[in-house]
Amino acid sequence: MAKKVLVVYYSKTGNTERVAKDIASRLGADIEKIIDKKNRAGILGYIFGGRDGMKERTTEIGPITKNPAEYDIVVIGTPVWGWNMTPAVRTYIEQNRDRLKSVAFFATAGNFDMAKMTVFMEKLAGKKAVASTGFNRGDLKDEKVYGGKLTAFVETLRLQ
Ligand SMILES: Cc1cc2nc3c(=O)[nH]c(=O)nc-3n(C[C@H](O)[C@H](O)[C@H](O)COP(=O)(O)O)c2cc1C
Repeated sequence: MAKKVLVVYYSKTGNTERVAKDIASRLGADIEKIIDKKNRAGILGYIFGGRDGMKERTTEIGPITKNPAEYDIVVIGTPVWGWNMTPAVRTYIEQNRDRLKSVAFFATAGNFDMAKMTVFMEKLAGKKAVASTGFNRGDLKDEKVYGGKLTAFVETLRLQ
């Protein structure tokens, strides 16, 4: 029987949303967008967002509509802010970690070593990821690289 998959993500400028939607459509997964209730607009939003990411701060997020406990695998995607995950994704994982049976992670960034992000997210979730990947700016611009990484990630999830 096919596994039930939920893709959960936060995205401010659309990169993580693009990846989340592509993963969900390839797997026929449900999707949930996390809303950060803090105003992250403008240059101050950028500065304080980066600081909040770096300082491992949480935030207030909007109500979620899908119960992660009802899914075999929850795929969680975050942009990199201040060399760490976004406050919105940190908050989601903290609030839901006991409801996550099995997790996979992805991140998008300007330029970051995604292996580090996997370690941060695994530590917070309290479990190892069944798959993880990351897309830097260059990967997102190159359709071939993007498609290759996406396919590898999705196929690993299909094998679970
Ligand atoms: C507040 C803020 C902080 C960021 N900090 C980093 C960073 O530390 N390292 C990095 O490589 N990219 C950083 N970026 C770039 C984003 O990670 C990158 O553009 C990402 O793809 C944005 O995802 P989104 O379009 O889904 O919001 C930052 C962007 C923002 C808005």
